Amino acid sequence: MPSHDAPPRAGSAPPSDHGGRPVHDADVLVLRGGRVLDPASGHDGEADVVIERGTIVRMGRGAAEGFEGEGVTSIDCRGRWVAPGFIDLHVHFREPGQEYKEDIASGLRAAAAGGFTAVCAMPNTRPVNDNRAITELMVARAREVGGARLFPFGAITLGSKGEQLTEMADMKDAGAVGVSDDGVCVMNAAVMRRALEYAATFDLMVSQHCEDHHLTAGAQMHEGAIATKLGLRGWPREAEDIIVARDVLLNVRARARYHVAHLSTKGAAAMVREAKARGQRVTAEVTPHHLLLTDHALLGYPTSCKVTPPLREAEDVEAMIEALRDGTLDCIATDHAPHSPIEKDCEMSAASPGMIGLETTIPLLLGLVREGKLGALRLIEALSTSPARISGIEGGRLGPGARGDVVVLDPDLRWTVGRDTLQSKSLNSPWLGHELTGACMTTFVAGKAVWER
Ligand code: DOR
Repeated sequence: MPSHDAPPRAGSAPPSDHGGRPVHDADVLVLRGGRVLDPASGHDGEADVVIERGTIVRMGRGAAEGFEGEGVTSIDCRGRWVAPGFIDLHVHFREPGQEYKEDIASGLRAAAAGGFTAVCAMPNTRPVNDNRAITELMVARAREVGGARLFPFGAITLGSKGEQLTEMADMKDAGAVGVSDDGVCVMNAAVMRRALEYAATFDLMVSQHCEDHHLTAGAQMHEGAIATKLGLRGWPREAEDIIVARDVLLNVRARARYHVAHLSTKGAAAMVREAKARGQRVTAEVTPHHLLLTDHALLGYPTSCKVTPPLREAEDVEAMIEALRDGTLDCIATDHAPHSPIEKDCEMSAASPGMIGLETTIPLLLGLVREGKLGALRLIEALSTSPARISGIEGGRLGPGARGDVVVLDPDLRWTVGRDTLQSKSLNSPWLGHELTGACMTTFVAGKAVWER
């Protein structure tokens, strides 16, 4: 698009600070007539959004009036949803170490294609991101690639071995958004207590993978009738519940920013609800797959459905939806966990746990909205405003002064999940080959299109 010295504007437009300086591509971006969902202000209705130099300057009905002509990119959003860019607190990109599954470039492309403008990368890379150098490497690589923004989690313990605490302050300095040993649980209560206390001293978020490994040794799926039928060793709900209960207790005194990763059981949801009611510092996330699938999905032994924590039962899924609706579960995080055929085309016990999720989240969860199980504004809040609040990452709102991180969705577009439609390097999704309804059409980061369908 052509550049110009001073963008055209009308009387109702806010004052400009361009002062004749050169302006770049998409200096003024106008999203016209979409269904604008802004959970931060409670707005859900037809409106325009105007982004100038990477920042939202106007939002509302008729807000685009006067913004036209040269230097203004105008996008007709009628029939589309316009929302704050999504923020994912839980993805696994495999760089450094296992780039054949996903690297930072492909991961960030998948994020943008799914409507995510910021993602938090878990530290279970090879080697584990347990020090400043690796955090810096990830941040630098993401900057080089551009597009969606990447915020690494550093490990809680060295090598995520659960023994010695990492230099969390150092990693925070280098850009870590929080700490987690995700993939494994910090099993030693004394270590976890120290981790909470230490992280609290500089208000760093601590995300826990809640799994008592003694109770899950050899487990391939949720413990229940289906596991018995399939002859697979089960992982009982208690393995998750015990750790949530323990950590909530430990955090009474520590008062750290404690966060439960990929919560999956009805008991853990009840505990988080009660802890919040007591005024305790705890937040929690839920994955799309734990909102949609049960252990029945394991019938036929599809390794794409092997995840940790495992897919639970219908009563857990109902409890997840209820807890998401009432705010017990603050946000939705994908736990995007790419694996190659080497790790997945094998027997269940040899398969790595995890499924990809960045690009299927929106169509899948729009299904819950269509079924009347979840409000549209709450869905957008759980994908943007809430994770922004929990992590401190800027974003999650559309009003004047907000970052121009915005997604435009087509809730009705049908597409088939496959190699030619996904940006991720990996295809380990139970929805591979399925037709889904709803897609992210355009993703803007600071007003710049980083994805266009
Ligand atoms: O399913 C999962 N896969 N859960 C985790 O906690 C780790 C992840 C991975 O890294 O593949």
